[in-house]
Amino acid sequence: MINEDKAKELMEELLPDDPEEMKTTLREFDVLMMRYDSAIREVRTKLEILNDELSLHGQHSPISSISSRRKKPMSILEKLKRYDVEVSLSSIEKNLNDVAGIRVICSFVDDIYRVARMLIQQDDIRLIQVKDYIENPKPNGYRSYHMIVEVPVFFSNEKRPMRVEIQIRTVAMDFWASLEHKMKYKQDIDNAEEIMAELKECADTISQTDIKMMRIREKIRADRTDQ
Ligand code: GTP
Ligand code: MG
Repeated sequence: MINEDKAKELMEELLPDDPEEMKTTLREFDVLMMRYDSAIREVRTKLEILNDELSLHGQHSPISSISSRRKKPMSILEKLKRYDVEVSLSSIEKNLNDVAGIRVICSFVDDIYRVARMLIQQDDIRLIQVKDYIENPKPNGYRSYHMIVEVPVFFSNEKRPMRVEIQIRTVAMDFWASLEHKMKYKQDIDNAEEIMAELKECADTISQTDIKMMRIREKIRADRTDQ
């Protein structure tokens, strides 16, 4: 959480003293945020189109839901400070990959890879980074497929490549991550170690269940006579 003093300090670092220049910077900040919002819309639409296509002809929808968020201005400035880089507009684009964030929840593990592959195959998407925490789970048990992509967004007189962080995971992985996330705000909890061990155990069980579910789906598919 950012307190009022900290927020004021960050704003002072971002904004010039001259009132006119200050207004200009604030306006430019709004424009930058609008660009990130647009990038989110572009990528969301691509994912929705892929899902619509893959769901045709009685096939299951690989995506069960999509959510997105744009980082709040104060969190953006706080992250720049934490990274020990310049607190400026150009520094946001240069140093942060997660101002625009999209979370894709899939039914099955193989859907995650299918959706990711089809998205990055598109010739206007540039893949900047992949972190496969499904293949390589975090020590706490966190699993998810992360990508940073760059997507061109067309405005009235320019085309801007904008970065978007995409997290793709199963319903079960998402359920786990939302509970684990709550631990992050509970540093002074007595039985933290025990809880973390239990969460790790749950993560491993979930992973096995996700794989079993995929196998069951295959069996159901093979058995179907109505296709
Ligand atoms: P930041 O964590 O954003 O500073 O960047 P990073 O370079 O460490 O990226 P990483 O791909 O590891 O994590 C990006 C995002 O994934 C985080 O901001 C969280 O939303 C999510 N995430 C990563 N690790 C965990 C985890 O252990 N638990 C939960 N619940 N979410 C996680
Ligand atoms: Mg991190």
